Amino acid sequence: MRRILIASLVGLAAAVGIVMFFARPHQAPPRMPLPLDIWFTADTSGRIEPCGCFSGQFGGLTRVSTVLSQNPSSGLRLEIGNALAGTEDFQILQFEQLLQAEGHMGYHALNLGSREASLPADTLRRLAKDSPVTLLSANVLDAATLTPVVTPWKVVDLGGLKIGLIGIVQGTNWQPDASVIIAEPAETLRQAIPEVKGKADVLVCLAFTDETGLEKLAKEFYEIPILLGGDVQQPSPSLLRINQSWILATTNQSRALGELHTKWDPVTRTLEPATAEISLMHDRIPEDPLIEKFSQAYRKTIGKADLAVDHPGTAADAIPGVNPNATFVGSQSCMACHPKSFATWEKSRHAHAFESLVRKESDTDPSCIKCHVTGFGEPGGYLRNMGKEKLVNVSCESCHGPASNHLEARTTAKPGETIFQKMRPVGPGQCIQCHHGEFSRPFKFEEFWELIKHGKEGA
Ligand code: HEC
Ligand code: HEC
Ligand code: HEC
Ligand code: HEC
Repeated sequence: MRRILIASLVGLAAAVGIVMFFARPHQAPPRMPLPLDIWFTADTSGRIEPCGCFSGQFGGLTRVSTVLSQNPSSGLRLEIGNALAGTEDFQILQFEQLLQAEGHMGYHALNLGSREASLPADTLRRLAKDSPVTLLSANVLDAATLTPVVTPWKVVDLGGLKIGLIGIVQGTNWQPDASVIIAEPAETLRQAIPEVKGKADVLVCLAFTDETGLEKLAKEFYEIPILLGGDVQQPSPSLLRINQSWILATTNQSRALGELHTKWDPVTRTLEPATAEISLMHDRIPEDPLIEKFSQAYRKTIGKADLAVDHPGTAADAIPGVNPNATFVGSQSCMACHPKSFATWEKSRHAHAFESLVRKESDTDPSCIKCHVTGFGEPGGYLRNMGKEKLVNVSCESCHGPASNHLEARTTAKPGETIFQKMRPVGPGQCIQCHHGEFSRPFKFEEFWELIKHGKEGA
């Protein structure tokens, strides 16, 4: 009985097999459209985590990571450019950790923005070599060899769908390093597209350019159905369709995450209509502790590193003609002659600004201390090897400028003598050097000044 059943099952299977074999050429099973989901950031500006200058902050890869982990991990994850905060040595150290963080988050590529493309070719090559995320750019060329400095394009296979990623950066309004040449983006694409098209089903261009630049590319390159931008003032208000291309851009220092969803139809070899969204990060999104670790690693490195800011020049005061050669003397020296101003200042948070950094273990991070100490980066100003000893906090001289000349003029003056020495003028312009963007609650001079008001007391 059992043997007969098995025998007939085998027979049935063989029959089905024969039927399917002959049926196959006539009735191919419908091939399902393949999903293409893309998540992307731009202008991350070194924000592995938000600075914490006030509560209610939005951004940080720590939050982007949380949002990504709530979504299927099968999509593309891309950075369009300017993930680097700047070209100084400490910012490059921070970028190395940012690359590790994005590697951990499953990023497939990081396109070079204008900041990355301002680095020397050798630095870019070294960063690319050690990075878990592919550094991408087809038009950042080595000035000596005229070949791409990093990977010009790559193909990512997502569940059978082959996606060709090409990176470009717009080369206007900024100067690359002498070791680098920025080729014209359209010219670069004209050359690269045929090659990539042969190896991929769909092309996605990571284009660090503005809205006008993106539209121009869409008008010329029908072969690129998806153009993702990043050199914009605001994230795209909606998904744009120009000719055969979908255009979406994002920006905002890790506060905005772009999402684009579509499907690839293998039969017609076209994309289905796409939908898009820009998700804004906010302070109710928990920060991913695993990503915070990369920020901690950066702080550890920076504490031990010898940096250019540790060896400032000896130029005169930055404002020509005012206080030449004046040096910083510290707020204690002002107390005797300006007691009321001193008392107001001492009670303000300015007088405790360095403690905030110590609390966050960021007291050796140049990207933080410049606003939490006195004269950092200026001749005679705060140096990291001063630790907590000297010129910490936002002192009188953070706003009024170095005061040694004033001190000398005032202490050596004879009774009745007219003193021509003047401190530099101060006003709202001074405040917003520190109170701006993510570093401050929205700044209104009248309201903020009210809390630290001081001055005329007939010293
Ligand atoms: C551009 C200047 C600037 C930079 C750079 C800066 N801060 Fe601040 N920070 C401020 C200002 C201004 C405030 C006060 C904000 C307010 O009161 O709205 C502040 C406040 C803070 C506070 C106190 C917050 C509170 O609610 O008690 C902490 C902590 C802090 N910053 C940490 C950092 C860290 C860490 C970094 C580096 C990652 C950093 N800051 C970089 C300007 C800056
Ligand atoms: C020996 C006394 C003395 C000391 C010390 C002193 N000042 Fe003055 N300061 C004066 C006098 C006097 C005036 C003129 C007062 C007036 O016009 O009301 C003045 C004026 C000023 C002014 C007004 C603008 C100007 O250029 O006259 C500022 C700002 C100022 N002082 C800041 C400071 C700071 C900051 C310190 C500490 C680094 C300091 N002073 C230390 C005596 C002193
Ligand atoms: C060198 C950078 C810097 C400058 C310049 C600066 N601030 Fe601040 N300010 C800070 C920092 C940093 C904090 C937060 C300190 C903390 O809590 O760690 C702060 C905090 C404050 C606060 C909250 C103080 C409190 O006690 O509640 C006020 C108000 C303020 N600033 C007003 C001003 C005004 C007005 C100006 C310009 C006249 C100004 N700041 C210029 C860095 C600066
Ligand atoms: C956060 C910035 C800031 C800090 C810190 C600060 N001041 Fe001022 N100070 C100002 C501003 C702004 C004015 C108003 C200038 C004006 O009215 O022209 C002012 C005015 C003054 C004046 C009167 C100026 C005049 O023209 O008569 C004196 C004196 C003075 N400050 C001394 C001090 C002393 C001393 C300290 C430290 C104990 C100090 N300030 C800390 C921003 C600051």
